[in-house]
Formats: sequence, structure tokens, C-alpha cells
Amino acid sequence: MTAIVGAAIEVARDAADAARLAADVVADTVRARPDAVIGFATGRTPRALYAQLARRVARRELDLRGIRVVALDEYVGVAPDDPRSFAAYLDAHVIRPLHIDPRRVSLLDGSAASDEVLAERCRAYDRLLDAAGVDLQIVGIGRNGHIGFSEPGTPFETATHLARLTEATRRDNADAFGGDPRRVPERALTQGPATIARARTILLVASGDGKADAVAAAFDGPIDPACPASLLQRHPRVRAVLDPAAATGLSRRGRGVTPDRSAPTTPRKADR
Ligand code: GLP
Repeated sequence: MTAIVGAAIEVARDAADAARLAADVVADTVRARPDAVIGFATGRTPRALYAQLARRVARRELDLRGIRVVALDEYVGVAPDDPRSFAAYLDAHVIRPLHIDPRRVSLLDGSAASDEVLAERCRAYDRLLDAAGVDLQIVGIGRNGHIGFSEPGTPFETATHLARLTEATRRDNADAFGGDPRRVPERALTQGPATIARARTILLVASGDGKADAVAAAFDGPIDPACPASLLQRHPRVRAVLDPAAATGLSRRGRGVTPDRSAPTTPRKADR
């Protein structure tokens, strides 16, 4: 698929197929630009993609050593060496298995600090991303439609910021905190919708029926901060790789997206 304005949605046959399709997007980016700047999301969903990339790297089919890695978000009050941090996640799933030199990695530092210092870290991160120019930003989607930790209601023009997490998000992320949502930090630093939108290409991965409503709201609903991911409808280069369960909301609503590979694209709302 090339030169598609708006979202190009691919529905994979299964989870393994989804990981392969998403890995192809990363591989294409790096083929075009070996020193690409790539933003990596955390969460359960992209793990299969990262494992697929690691397999290709191990088989020497893909060389990612030239890329620069940037983070999407990080908990506040969780130091980078804490195993629950997103820094630790990226180290385990991206940096080490993909043989990335740590000097080519830029993370958001959520370790405890005053709100002023946290806000300054956000501004500095935006300056860094602006200077680097993000070629590809990988995002998952929250069940409430969040991207990164930009929660529903976040104005689209918001840059990297200090976000207050919703109860639902803390529940959904409780696994890493012993299953107790109250132990999940209340706040996080996150690329904002405006930051994410500056990436040249955005790759959204979603799997499981728990994401079906969020995916439908993102691609078939109104473009509204109530669903932060709906911002993607406005972006000129979005690739979405879904497993069949995550795509069921799209087909139910019958908005021009067929959940099979024969009709992989959906035009932007304005173009329909
Ligand atoms: C967290 C992350 C998001 C991620 C979401 C979904 O909230 N900050 O970046 O997309 O979880 O995670 P999962 O893939 O585990 O459902």
C-alpha cells in the first residue's frame, strides 16, 4: 500500500500475522532510511511485533543498529532502573534484543521531581523530538481510546505533558504493579496528541476484542479529543495493523472497512 491519504487499515489473519505485518512497516521504514528515528510504544500489544523484529535481527534479515529510539511515555515517580518503568520495558523488549546502542536511545525521565522539573523535561523532550524528526511512531491504543498516556479529553494541540491517568487506565496497567490499580502511578509523562501527530508515519497496533470499541471510535467515530486516537483520521500517513478481534467494531458499524486483507484501506472520513 502506498501513497494513501488517511488511515490504511490492515486486518491480519491472527496475532502472528499481525506481528509480521507490523514488522514489515518498521522494516520498510528502515530500508528507506537506515538512521530512522522510531518511537516505540509499551504495553502487551507491541510485544509480538518486537519479538518479530528481534527474530529478523537475529537471522540478520534486518539491521536496526542505525536507528534512533525514542519513547512514547513513562510513569511519574518510577525511576528508569525500576523494572516497572517503561524504560525497563524498552530495554528488555527493544534496546537489547534489537542490539541498539543505548546512546541512540532517548527516554522520558519520570523519576520523582517537582512539577516544574517534570514540565521542563516535557518541553525538553519536545525540542529533542522536533530536532530529530520522528520518522515512525508506533502506538497502541487504550480501551478508552488513549494513545501513549494522552487520556480522553486531552486537547489535540497538547504537546508532551504531565498526564493524570484515569482509573480505567490504572486498572488496565495494574499487572506490572502486582495487580493492584492503587499502586499504579496516578500520573505519567507522555507525548501529547500534537507530538504524536508530528511523526511522519504512525503505526497503530491493536489486538483483542477489548480494543474493538476503541478501534471503531478511533477510525469510524467523530474526530474528537474524547477519543484521542481519532486524531489519527487527520494524519496523512497512518498504518493500523489489527487482529480480527480488534477489528470487529469496524465491521459491525459497516463503515467501509471489511475485516479481511482484500479491502485493506479505508479513506479518510472527509474523503468518503
Ligand atoms: C498503556 C500505554 C499505552 C498502550 C496501552 C495499551 O496505557 N501507555 O501506550 O497503548 O497501555 O496497552 P496494551 O497493549 O497492554 O493493551
